[in-house]
Amino acid sequence: MAYEWKFNKRPYTDEEAKELLKTVIDAETTDWHYNTHHKGYVTFMNNIEKELETADRAKANGNYSNVGELKRRFTWNHAGALLHDVYWEVLGGDGDTAKGPGSDFSNRKRIWLCG
Ligand SMILES: [Fe+2]
Repeated sequence: MAYEWKFNKRPYTDEEAKELLKTVIDAETTDWHYNTHHKGYVTFMNNIEKELETADRAKANGNYSNVGELKRRFTWNHAGALLHDVYWEVLGGDGDTAKGPGSDFSNRKRIWLCG
């Protein structure tokens, strides 16, 4: 069974975001960035996890493999999801660095290995 990545909640609700972030990002944009853009990265990560379960590793060659392409796409989407997690924490923080990004990356401990 494929690993399932979570769409992490922001430190505030969608409604709270509209008020909290209104001086830096408008309500429509913040909603799109979280509920479409950020969520899309997580959706693609999960789709790629499923594709990797059945990808044919025997067809790989020195220049190209479907597995390699899936991992490259995974890296892109993972970076997008992680950066959005940090983005929301920074924008909605209260200035206490102990609560900031990096204080809990327990959901990020999975490491990709070759093969
Ligand atoms: Fe975004």
